[in-house]
Amino acid sequence: MVRLENLTKEYDLPPVKGRPAQVVAADRVNLQIADGEIYGFVGPNGAGKTTTLKMICGLLVPTSGIVEVQGIDVEHRPEDALQFIGYLADFFSLYDDMKVWEYLDYFARAYKMPAHQIPARVTEVIAWVGLESKRDAFIQGLSRGMKQRLGIARAVLHNPPVLVLDEPASGLDPKARVELKDLLKNLNRDGKTILISSHVLSDLEEICTSVAIMEKGHLLRSGKLAAVMEQSTETAAKRRIRIRVAEVSDQLMEWLSARDGVTEAHPSAKIIPGSSSVDFLFSGSDSALAALVKELVVAGAPVCAVEGSAESFEQIYARLSGGEVM
Ligand SMILES: Nc1ncnc2c1ncn2[C@@H]1O[C@H](COP(=O)(O)OP(=O)(O)O)[C@@H](O)[C@H]1O
Ligand SMILES: [Mg+2]
Repeated sequence: MVRLENLTKEYDLPPVKGRPAQVVAADRVNLQIADGEIYGFVGPNGAGKTTTLKMICGLLVPTSGIVEVQGIDVEHRPEDALQFIGYLADFFSLYDDMKVWEYLDYFARAYKMPAHQIPARVTEVIAWVGLESKRDAFIQGLSRGMKQRLGIARAVLHNPPVLVLDEPASGLDPKARVELKDLLKNLNRDGKTILISSHVLSDLEEICTSVAIMEKGHLLRSGKLAAVMEQSTETAAKRRIRIRVAEVSDQLMEWLSARDGVTEAHPSAKIIPGSSSVDFLFSGSDSALAALVKELVVAGAPVCAVEGSAESFEQIYARLSGGEVM
């Protein structure tokens, strides 16, 4: 479990007109991340993701607040905490003139792993990240996606239960992104708790169990992905719903128009021969919509399909942050 309590980081900036200046990169962030989660930190550049992740890893001292990893206070016992954490920075350098296995062997030694365990461990992590065929290849010849996976292999060398990955998908092509997602899902299935940041929302939406939406140092929303989306749609603007029915009747239109949250109900133009549909605006959560559809079916309406332009995570994010989706 990773626990953040009022975690705050202020950076000093160059004085403005002789006055000291600060930026609050993380402002009283409270968060609990349970074991087994893939927890996504999402927000535009400058939101405070990197700052927060670095404090979690003990690489940056908080101005105030607490970080605990597996019950250990990271600020006061960074070395103990680091045993539980594997960290991959947003920009990391690899030694181009080393071979893949040499690089991992080098770090395993730097981590002071018992020498006799190292060869088997290096082989194991190479297999984990799917670089078996590149074991003896020089790092400089690897694709960006492979380099990213090698970075992850290094981060899991000491078999930490928690992995912290800062924007690991940035700069990867679509295929490498898919491979990265598969790798993270596998690591998660093998028991790793993963904290991952990205401004590429669709990447997180697919793999995360929970998300924290950050902007300008503030946590705007956090929690289980479904709950964050649900909570957000409750306050959402109206969305357009289309229900396809075998036949539109006056009775159906009256019934619909009388429902809570339904406005502007009207039969729509026939799009498929033999099938009719009704369009309306709906304000309410997904579960409220589900209840309405259920009632409709129970009342005997010939429902064939329901199509909604449900808000995507990106739209929710854009609305919450009041900013642009990146
Ligand atoms: N070392 C630093 N010194 C001063 N300001 C910094 C430093 N690192 C980050 N910041 C500022 O803190 C804010 C958060 O940055 P960061 O944590 O890197 O956000 P993100 O990773 O979400 O892009 C930004 O306004 C950034 O300019
Ligand atoms: Mg960052």
